[in-house]
Amino acid sequence: MPTVFVSCDLPANVAQWIDADIVVGDASGDCTRENFERGVSEADAAIVLLSDRVDESLLAKSPRLRIVANYAVGFDNIDIEAATKRGVWVSNTPGVLTEASADLAWTLILSAARRVIEGHRLVEAGDFTGVWPTTLLGKELHGCTLGVFGFGRIGQAVARRARAFGMNVIYTSRSPVALPIREGLQATPVTFDELIARSDVLSIHCPLTSQTRHLFNETTFTKMKNDALLINTARGPVVDEAALVDALDRREIGAAGLDVYEFEPNVHRGLIGRNDVVLLPHIGSATTATRQKMAKMAAENVADALGGRRPRHALNQVALR
Ligand code: DGY
Repeated sequence: MPTVFVSCDLPANVAQWIDADIVVGDASGDCTRENFERGVSEADAAIVLLSDRVDESLLAKSPRLRIVANYAVGFDNIDIEAATKRGVWVSNTPGVLTEASADLAWTLILSAARRVIEGHRLVEAGDFTGVWPTTLLGKELHGCTLGVFGFGRIGQAVARRARAFGMNVIYTSRSPVALPIREGLQATPVTFDELIARSDVLSIHCPLTSQTRHLFNETTFTKMKNDALLINTARGPVVDEAALVDALDRREIGAAGLDVYEFEPNVHRGLIGRNDVVLLPHIGSATTATRQKMAKMAAENVADALGGRRPRHALNQVALR
């Protein structure tokens, strides 16, 4: 019987889809690096979180490993090249988290635009004294421009919602988007410079790569509108967090809504306790339905690999065994 290591408890029992001994790294959700490495190195398959780094040194001490199934759509935590060289499949969970992630980006857009956190704090503090004409004036989204950086599934789902809010949509994408899709979304492709200069709300939906790391930096912020909202639900290191804090301090941009951080789970101290920032704990895909679908998808990828088949959501190509 093969062994499948799952780095922490998932919101669905993967045993219903995989015929294997299931070892959970830490059912309390806090798998130490040592437990994690031991678990992976003794397993035939591993289901890992986006915070679990799978690198060459771990792969080198995992001789039985046939697949690393990422419990996420982003996969910058896994050295795919090293896995491929060692004949280890790598898979992810595309598609099922698109709508949940787009909803969460919009949660941040609306919260930052309409100062929801400040309003909540005001009411809780007992400072709600009635309706006053100047209390918590926010940004009206209708008629504004939403800029989407990265126009894959999630970026497009964010753009689709923008139509209901009466926003104009522009986007920048590394690969061309088919005409019927962009016409359906009434979205216009622009250069990166145009995107940052024209967006009233700029939402990031790209993967983390060497090209996108710190793409949003001091220079970028100086070119953005002074009242623009920056939303990041993709990967933290796409934004230079120290530069973001400086830009907010200097009022080069209006506000930020963040679900992801450069040094997750640590958050730059300059982002804490301010009214122009909304912070969430990387919960883009965190709905019960989505997280259960992700568990099924990861388990099916594992079952495929252990059954000698190409995993249905494989990110690489290795010899079947
Ligand atoms: C992913 O799956 O990559 C997302 O970041 C989860 O929220």
